[in-house]
Amino acid sequence: MKALVLIGGFGTRLRPITYSIPKQLIPIAGKPMLYHVLDLLPPEVDEVVLATGYKAEVIERYVRGHMPAVRVQFVEEKTPLGTGGGMRNAGDDMSDPFLLMNSDVIAQVDVRALLDLHRRSGGVGAMTLTEVDDTRPYGVAALGPDDRIVGFVEKPQPKDAPSHWINAGVQVWHRSVLDRIPRGRALSFETEIVPGLLSHGIYGFRSRGYWEDAGTPERLLHAQRLLFDAGRGGPGRRPPGASGHGPVAVGHDVRAEGAEIGPYSCLGDGVVLHSGAHVENSVLMDGVTVHAGGRVVGSIVGPGMEVAGGVRTENQVLGTTPAP
Ligand code: GTP
Repeated sequence: MKALVLIGGFGTRLRPITYSIPKQLIPIAGKPMLYHVLDLLPPEVDEVVLATGYKAEVIERYVRGHMPAVRVQFVEEKTPLGTGGGMRNAGDDMSDPFLLMNSDVIAQVDVRALLDLHRRSGGVGAMTLTEVDDTRPYGVAALGPDDRIVGFVEKPQPKDAPSHWINAGVQVWHRSVLDRIPRGRALSFETEIVPGLLSHGIYGFRSRGYWEDAGTPERLLHAQRLLFDAGRGGPGRRPPGASGHGPVAVGHDVRAEGAEIGPYSCLGDGVVLHSGAHVENSVLMDGVTVHAGGRVVGSIVGPGMEVAGGVRTENQVLGTTPAP
């Protein structure tokens, strides 16, 4: 079976970090977002097709270096084709069925059970659904008998949302759905194609495990908490001389003598925390330095950045913005 992973977006909501690295390579609880996504794939998936675009070469380098055992194909879009166009462009020679994964979802989903549901139902597809309070940023399903999806509305106003069950970004489809996507233009699979497939049978797979769309800074940090709380963060040993409690992920060659590393912190390789620095509920990527007495809370700090000493950096995304 093949899995098609959509990975071509710009990640605008995580700028400025995403000017230099694609969002899928931002570490969460010690591993890149993409690692957690691919970790969901069941063993019967023997080939991963990555529909790339923005910073495709960086993604390719990471995947080839870190997942040598998996057969991987990269299909790059020269201009962004959206989710539907990306599927069409990368979907030649798909397996039947195939898995479709968003690359920015941190979740616990029983993909095998999703596949079983799809096989039993006889429909054209099955969509993992997760229940959220605020449905506004998502695609929302209306469910009929046997959890057949009878309506699907993308980003509805609250009054128009048919339920609180949203597309969790982990789906299985019959190969034939790809034939319904026009070639050569950008389009959204969810808004332009899914509604027309409802009459052919799409079933909802209600998942009650943790779930978060890690596409914004707040949600990425929430996803990190979920992973740590599920015991999926780390490795998590504080370096010698650092204080603090709670779950952390710490890379190689981290120096933090006299600093405090609070809970839900992820420090990349070569991070230096000077004396009196404090980090909590944050991601500090490789080579970040926090000067003496600097406090970093609820923030995501891009590779190589220097954080000033003696000040509080709270709820920030720090990275380098390219010159215009
Ligand atoms: P924002 O710019 O912050 O909205 O992020 P994004 O560009 O990643 O968009 P969004 O979060 O809506 O994307 C959902 C999923 O679809 C992610 O896995 C994206 O990588 C992927 N995606 C979005 N646009 C494209 C595209 O044009 N081509 C491909 N192949 N994937 C896409």
